[in-house]
Amino acid sequence: MKIFVTRKIPEPGLDLLKKEHELEINPYNRVLTKEEIVEGVRGKDGLLCLLTDQIDRDIIASESKLKMIANYAVGYNNVDVEMATRRGIPVSNTPGVLTDATAEMAWALLFSAARCIAEGDRFTRAGRFKGWDPMLMLGQGVSNKTLGIIGAGRIGTALGLKSKGFNMEVLYVNKRENEALEREVNAKKVEMCEVLKKSDFISLHVSLSESTRHMMGEKELKMMKENAILINTSRGPVVDEQALIKALKEKWIFGAGLDVYEHEPDVSAELKNLDNVVLQPHSASATIETRTKMALMAAENMMAGLKGEIPPNCVNREVFEGKQGSIE
Ligand code: GLV
Ligand code: GLV
Repeated sequence: MKIFVTRKIPEPGLDLLKKEHELEINPYNRVLTKEEIVEGVRGKDGLLCLLTDQIDRDIIASESKLKMIANYAVGYNNVDVEMATRRGIPVSNTPGVLTDATAEMAWALLFSAARCIAEGDRFTRAGRFKGWDPMLMLGQGVSNKTLGIIGAGRIGTALGLKSKGFNMEVLYVNKRENEALEREVNAKKVEMCEVLKKSDFISLHVSLSESTRHMMGEKELKMMKENAILINTSRGPVVDEQALIKALKEKWIFGAGLDVYEHEPDVSAELKNLDNVVLQPHSASATIETRTKMALMAAENMMAGLKGEIPPNCVNREVFEGKQGSIE
């Protein structure tokens, strides 16, 4: 069968697909336009896409042969899953394989923001280090502090479990109780306002949906402690970026560490001008081993979907319940 791949991903995934299928891969090293994706999907049975592609209803409806959409990401807010379901097209994601890499990036941002690592690096490179200074680069300690986790799914759980060596108090907000966190780090499930008021570090691990968009706004940022640090490795729009800029400028909080932005790939000039925020280019899953595993996982999902089997990481299993399999 024929598969359109919207951007080159690590070879092992492409090699696996090539064994059974014919691939057309975006020849450019950039995100494609909607028109280019529609053009690419024409006559294809499978679409392997990235979180930077908005796979909307028009794209999904543009090719009647389309049988499978494999998203190369754990988050899939970029795909109109409802439309895909209505057309009987399974959609898959890449959960699990990027859990540790993403939790590690959240920790890297936490330490970087707490101990002024990026700022210190800029300072030292600029030749401004003139000798040990009792008042230079004063940050926030991490050990024995309170870690607040908003969204205790796979990644939020991994983040919390990794706090063990720092003897932290762990609070979390989640629909369900998280046994692993409670057992391993004595974490407590609390309400949002308690996490905001008590945490020294708050890390966001929710998926993006209408209910989580701007869940960290002016009101929430104002409830945080003055020494607190906000970490976001989830999706940019979960945070009201203008409110965060205000909070950082007016020092309602100590700092932030961001891997994602509200208007990616644009990063606001105001954020770039602030020293109390650490900025990463949406690279939390970017380790060689994780990206390779993601490629294999996306390929395996694609292969299953094209055979008419339930992809191992299908996010819309209702497609296979036989009720919604028909084209509208
Ligand atoms: C990365 O942001 C992902 O969702 O995989
Ligand atoms: C989200 O996908 C998570 O694993 O926390």
